[in-house]
Amino acid sequence: MSITTQAELSGMQEAGKAVAHTLRAMINYAQPGMSTLELDEFGAKCLAGFGARSAPYLTYKFPGWTCISVGKEFCHGIPSGKRILQEGDLINIDVSAELNGFWADNGASFILGEDIHRHQQLVNASKEILRKAISEIKGGVKIADIGHLMETAAKKSGYRVIKNLGGHGIGRSLHEQPEELLNYKNRFDNRRFRKDSVVAIETFIATDSSLAVELRDGWTMVGNRGGYMAQHEHTIVITDGAPIILTADNEIFN
Ligand code: CO
Ligand code: CO
Repeated sequence: MSITTQAELSGMQEAGKAVAHTLRAMINYAQPGMSTLELDEFGAKCLAGFGARSAPYLTYKFPGWTCISVGKEFCHGIPSGKRILQEGDLINIDVSAELNGFWADNGASFILGEDIHRHQQLVNASKEILRKAISEIKGGVKIADIGHLMETAAKKSGYRVIKNLGGHGIGRSLHEQPEELLNYKNRFDNRRFRKDSVVAIETFIATDSSLAVELRDGWTMVGNRGGYMAQHEHTIVITDGAPIILTADNEIFN
Protein backbone atom coordinates (compact mmCIF):
# COMPACT_ATOMS: atom_id res chain seq x y z
CA MET A 1 0.00 0.00 0.00
CA SER A 2 0.93 3.60 -0.29
CA ILE A 3 0.56 5.67 2.87
CA THR A 4 -1.53 8.75 2.16
CA THR A 5 -2.86 9.76 5.60
CA GLN A 6 -1.67 9.93 9.18
CA ALA A 7 -4.39 7.41 10.09
CA GLU A 8 -2.92 4.89 7.63
CA LEU A 9 0.55 5.42 9.07
CA SER A 10 -0.78 4.91 12.61
CA GLY A 11 -2.66 1.80 11.54
CA MET A 12 0.49 0.33 10.00
CA GLN A 13 2.52 1.29 13.07
CA GLU A 14 0.09 -0.60 15.32
CA ALA A 15 0.16 -3.69 13.09
CA GLY A 16 3.96 -3.49 12.96
CA LYS A 17 4.16 -3.26 16.72
CA ALA A 18 1.90 -6.31 17.19
CA VAL A 19 3.97 -8.61 14.97
CA ALA A 20 7.30 -7.23 16.21
CA HIS A 21 6.47 -7.70 19.91
CA THR A 22 5.08 -11.16 19.21
CA LEU A 23 8.25 -12.20 17.35
CA ARG A 24 10.50 -10.82 20.12
CA ALA A 25 8.41 -12.52 22.83
CA MET A 26 8.51 -15.86 20.97
CA ILE A 27 12.30 -15.69 20.56
CA ASN A 28 12.62 -15.03 24.30
CA TYR A 29 10.13 -17.77 25.18
CA ALA A 30 11.78 -20.53 23.08
CA GLN A 31 13.58 -23.12 25.22
CA PRO A 32 15.19 -26.51 24.64
CA GLY A 33 12.58 -29.22 25.27
CA MET A 34 9.68 -27.07 24.07
CA SER A 35 7.67 -28.15 21.03
CA THR A 36 7.14 -25.77 18.13
CA LEU A 37 3.40 -26.17 18.77
CA GLU A 38 3.80 -24.77 22.31
CA LEU A 39 5.85 -21.89 20.93
CA ASP A 40 3.22 -21.20 18.27
CA GLU A 41 0.40 -21.24 20.84
CA PHE A 42 2.35 -18.73 22.91
CA GLY A 43 2.70 -16.56 19.79
CA ALA A 44 -1.03 -16.85 19.10
CA LYS A 45 -1.75 -15.52 22.61
CA CYS A 46 0.61 -12.57 22.04
CA LEU A 47 -1.09 -11.70 18.76
CA ALA A 48 -4.52 -12.01 20.36
CA GLY A 49 -3.37 -9.66 23.14
CA PHE A 50 -2.89 -6.99 20.47
CA GLY A 51 -6.19 -7.88 18.81
CA ALA A 52 -4.20 -9.07 15.77
CA ARG A 53 -5.02 -12.09 13.62
CA SER A 54 -2.53 -14.48 12.01
CA ALA A 55 -1.90 -13.51 8.39
CA PRO A 56 -0.81 -16.92 7.04
CA TYR A 57 -3.88 -18.50 8.61
CA LEU A 58 -6.24 -15.84 7.24
CA THR A 59 -4.61 -15.69 3.81
CA TYR A 60 -3.60 -19.27 3.10
CA LYS A 61 -5.30 -21.38 5.82
CA PHE A 62 -1.77 -22.19 7.00
CA PRO A 63 -1.99 -24.91 9.70
CA GLY A 64 -0.54 -22.73 12.47
CA TRP A 65 -0.54 -19.11 13.67
CA THR A 66 3.11 -18.42 12.93
CA CYS A 67 5.74 -20.16 10.78
CA ILE A 68 8.42 -21.94 12.83
CA SER A 69 11.19 -23.63 10.85
CA VAL A 70 13.94 -25.59 12.55
CA GLY A 71 17.33 -26.86 11.38
CA LYS A 72 17.36 -27.58 7.66
CA GLU A 73 13.82 -26.33 7.21
CA PHE A 74 14.11 -22.95 5.49
CA CYS A 75 10.65 -21.48 6.00
CA HIS A 76 6.89 -22.09 6.30
CA GLY A 77 7.56 -24.77 8.94
CA ILE A 78 4.33 -26.08 10.48
CA PRO A 79 4.16 -25.92 14.30
CA SER A 80 4.02 -29.44 15.69
CA GLY A 81 3.80 -31.13 19.08
CA LYS A 82 6.34 -33.64 17.81
CA ARG A 83 8.97 -31.08 16.89
CA ILE A 84 11.03 -30.53 20.03
CA LEU A 85 13.53 -27.66 20.13
CA GLN A 86 17.09 -28.48 21.10
CA GLU A 87 20.09 -26.53 22.32
CA GLY A 88 21.99 -25.07 19.37
CA ASP A 89 19.09 -25.35 16.89
CA LEU A 90 18.92 -22.80 14.09
CA ILE A 91 15.33 -21.56 14.33
CA ASN A 92 13.37 -19.24 12.08
CA ILE A 93 10.18 -17.63 13.30
CA ASP A 94 8.08 -15.58 10.91
CA VAL A 95 5.16 -13.61 12.31
CA SER A 96 2.70 -11.76 10.12
CA ALA A 97 -0.71 -10.49 11.10
CA GLU A 98 -3.66 -8.26 10.37
CA LEU A 99 -4.82 -5.59 12.81
CA ASN A 100 -7.75 -3.26 12.04
CA GLY A 101 -7.34 -3.91 8.32
CA PHE A 102 -3.56 -3.29 8.29
CA TRP A 103 -1.06 -6.07 7.68
CA ALA A 104 2.56 -6.36 8.80
CA ASP A 105 5.20 -9.07 8.51
CA ASN A 106 8.53 -9.80 10.20
CA GLY A 107 10.85 -12.70 10.78
CA ALA A 108 14.15 -13.71 12.29
CA SER A 109 16.55 -16.62 12.43
CA PHE A 110 18.37 -17.23 15.70
CA ILE A 111 20.25 -19.90 17.57
CA LEU A 112 18.66 -21.51 20.59
CA GLY A 113 21.07 -21.29 23.52
CA GLU A 114 24.67 -22.16 22.90
CA ASP A 115 25.88 -22.19 19.29
CA ILE A 116 27.12 -25.79 19.32
CA HIS A 117 26.54 -26.25 15.57
CA ARG A 118 28.18 -22.97 14.61
CA HIS A 119 25.32 -21.19 12.86
CA GLN A 120 26.10 -17.74 14.26
CA GLN A 121 28.07 -16.53 11.25
CA LEU A 122 25.16 -17.32 8.92
CA VAL A 123 22.68 -15.60 11.23
CA ASN A 124 24.89 -12.52 11.52
CA ALA A 125 25.41 -12.34 7.76
CA SER A 126 21.67 -12.41 7.11
CA LYS A 127 20.99 -9.72 9.71
CA GLU A 128 23.74 -7.44 8.39
CA ILE A 129 22.54 -7.86 4.81
CA LEU A 130 19.04 -6.80 5.84
CA ARG A 131 20.45 -3.81 7.69
CA LYS A 132 22.53 -2.80 4.71
CA ALA A 133 19.67 -3.26 2.23
CA ILE A 134 17.24 -1.20 4.31
CA SER A 135 19.80 1.56 4.77
CA GLU A 136 20.02 1.92 0.97
CA ILE A 137 16.29 1.87 0.21
CA LYS A 138 14.55 5.15 -0.51
CA GLY A 139 12.15 6.50 -3.09
CA GLY A 140 13.56 6.13 -6.61
CA VAL A 141 16.10 3.40 -5.85
CA LYS A 142 15.96 0.50 -8.31
CA ILE A 143 14.58 -2.71 -6.79
CA ALA A 144 17.14 -4.76 -8.74
CA ASP A 145 20.00 -2.70 -7.28
CA ILE A 146 18.99 -3.70 -3.75
CA GLY A 147 18.88 -7.33 -4.91
CA HIS A 148 22.37 -6.89 -6.31
CA LEU A 149 23.59 -5.42 -3.03
CA MET A 150 22.14 -8.37 -1.11
CA GLU A 151 23.65 -11.04 -3.33
CA THR A 152 27.04 -9.30 -3.43
CA ALA A 153 27.13 -9.07 0.36
CA ALA A 154 26.07 -12.71 0.72
CA LYS A 155 28.81 -13.91 -1.62
CA LYS A 156 31.37 -11.79 0.18
CA SER A 157 30.47 -13.64 3.39
CA GLY A 158 30.76 -17.01 1.63
CA TYR A 159 27.02 -17.62 1.21
CA ARG A 160 24.40 -17.82 -1.51
CA VAL A 161 20.97 -16.29 -1.83
CA ILE A 162 17.76 -18.19 -2.43
CA LYS A 163 16.50 -17.11 -5.82
CA ASN A 164 12.86 -18.13 -5.66
CA LEU A 165 11.92 -16.34 -2.45
CA GLY A 166 11.59 -12.59 -2.00
CA GLY A 167 10.18 -9.63 -0.13
CA HIS A 168 6.91 -8.02 -1.12
CA GLY A 169 4.60 -5.08 -0.86
CA ILE A 170 2.25 -5.26 2.14
CA GLY A 171 -0.31 -3.15 3.99
CA ARG A 172 -3.90 -3.89 2.98
CA SER A 173 -3.11 -7.58 2.56
CA LEU A 174 -0.14 -9.85 3.26
CA HIS A 175 1.30 -9.86 -0.25
CA GLU A 176 0.79 -6.90 -2.56
CA GLN A 177 2.60 -5.15 -5.39
CA PRO A 178 5.54 -4.76 -5.68
CA GLU A 179 6.01 -8.55 -5.43
CA GLU A 180 9.27 -10.44 -5.92
CA LEU A 181 11.73 -8.18 -4.14
CA LEU A 182 14.47 -10.67 -4.85
CA ASN A 183 17.85 -11.11 -3.18
CA TYR A 184 19.72 -10.86 -6.50
CA LYS A 185 19.84 -8.58 -9.50
CA ASN A 186 17.18 -9.34 -12.05
CA ARG A 187 18.40 -7.32 -15.00
CA PHE A 188 14.94 -7.32 -16.59
CA ASP A 189 13.44 -5.66 -13.53
CA ASN A 190 13.26 -1.89 -14.08
CA ARG A 191 10.97 -1.14 -11.14
CA ARG A 192 11.92 1.40 -8.50
CA PHE A 193 10.96 1.73 -4.85
CA ARG A 194 8.36 4.43 -4.34
CA LYS A 195 8.18 6.95 -1.53
CA ASP A 196 5.32 6.28 0.94
CA SER A 197 4.91 2.67 -0.12
CA VAL A 198 5.04 -0.12 2.45
CA VAL A 199 7.19 -3.17 1.75
CA ALA A 200 8.42 -6.21 3.63
CA ILE A 201 12.14 -6.60 2.98
CA GLU A 202 13.53 -10.05 3.70
CA THR A 203 16.84 -11.86 3.33
CA PHE A 204 17.20 -15.51 2.30
CA ILE A 205 20.86 -16.35 2.92
CA ALA A 206 21.94 -19.95 2.47
CA THR A 207 24.98 -22.15 2.94
CA ASP A 208 24.51 -24.58 0.03
CA SER A 209 21.23 -24.10 -1.82
CA SER A 210 20.02 -21.46 -4.24
CA LEU A 211 16.41 -22.63 -4.50
CA ALA A 212 13.79 -23.45 -1.90
CA VAL A 213 11.67 -26.53 -2.58
CA GLU A 214 8.47 -27.61 -0.87
CA LEU A 215 8.22 -30.80 1.17
CA ARG A 216 5.31 -33.19 0.71
CA ASP A 217 3.43 -31.58 3.60
CA GLY A 218 2.61 -28.84 1.08
CA TRP A 219 4.15 -26.06 3.22
CA THR A 220 7.63 -26.61 4.64
CA MET A 221 10.44 -25.45 2.38
CA VAL A 222 13.99 -26.83 2.38
CA GLY A 223 16.99 -26.25 0.13
CA ASN A 224 17.39 -27.90 -3.28
CA ARG A 225 20.92 -28.77 -2.20
CA GLY A 226 20.32 -29.00 1.52
CA GLY A 227 22.23 -26.94 4.03
CA TYR A 228 20.91 -24.10 6.16
CA MET A 229 19.24 -20.78 5.54
CA ALA A 230 18.81 -17.64 7.62
CA GLN A 231 16.08 -15.05 7.09
CA HIS A 232 15.50 -11.64 8.63
CA GLU A 233 12.57 -9.45 7.71
CA HIS A 234 11.23 -6.00 8.51
CA THR A 235 8.16 -4.14 7.28
CA ILE A 236 9.16 -0.61 6.30
CA VAL A 237 7.70 2.61 4.91
CA ILE A 238 9.85 4.09 2.15
CA THR A 239 10.67 7.80 2.41
CA ASP A 240 13.08 10.22 0.73
CA GLY A 241 15.60 9.36 3.40
CA ALA A 242 15.94 6.52 5.90
CA PRO A 243 12.93 4.17 5.83
CA ILE A 244 10.54 4.00 8.81
CA ILE A 245 10.98 0.51 10.23
CA LEU A 246 7.49 -0.44 11.42
CA THR A 247 8.71 -3.67 13.04
CA ALA A 248 11.76 -2.19 14.81
CA ASP A 249 10.42 -3.43 18.16
CA ASN A 250 11.43 -7.00 17.23
CA GLU A 251 14.92 -5.75 18.15
CA ILE A 252 16.71 -7.85 15.53
CA PHE A 253 19.00 -4.89 14.84
CA ASN A 254 19.81 -4.32 18.52
CO1 CO B 1 7.24 -11.56 4.09
CO1 CO C 1 7.40 -12.99 6.86
